[in-house]
Amino acid sequence: QFSNKIHSAKMEQTFIMIKPDGVQRGLVGEIIGRFEKKGFTLKGLKLVTVDRAFAEKHYADLSAKPFFNGLVEYIVSGPVVAMVWEGKNVVATGRKIIGATNPAESAPGTIRGDYAIDIGRNVIHGSDAVESGRKEIALWFPEGIAEWRSSLHSWIY
Ligand code: TYD
Repeated sequence: QFSNKIHSAKMEQTFIMIKPDGVQRGLVGEIIGRFEKKGFTLKGLKLVTVDRAFAEKHYADLSAKPFFNGLVEYIVSGPVVAMVWEGKNVVATGRKIIGATNPAESAPGTIRGDYAIDIGRNVIHGSDAVESGRKEIALWFPEGIAEWRSSLHSWIY
């Protein structure tokens, strides 16, 4: 049901990162295009190479996992594209667009399903909840993000 009250609602935000393999394989435009064409709004964007301490902070919840060290090595291996995307249900829908963590199980049509083979090179990260999104945006964009609102929203929601 169309609601014209959407403009007064606080839009959800998520942190999306194109990992080093996605950048080096030339998938940046393709990935951004999928989020744009869905109708989400790009609110923050930068190409950044992070160091070990920063990558360990981003993945702090996984520090006890056996794959943690390899995961950190992967994230620091080259520049990543850090983004903030905004829209209704963007956290959950963003995860659907990205696909399952293990590309062997990601459905065709998802980013990982279409472009990845190995769980250790799965191209993209997306926040798993609104609260972790808030934390990740604060970590990756301490300078803050510009405020703007497209009038296109009235046609999408
Ligand atoms: P996780 O937060 O569980 O998945 P997601 O990225 O889908 O939110 O794990 C973070 C990353 O860690 C995941 O994208 C790839 C890597 N990883 C491995 O390398 N091996 C594993 O067994 C798992 C579960 C994750």
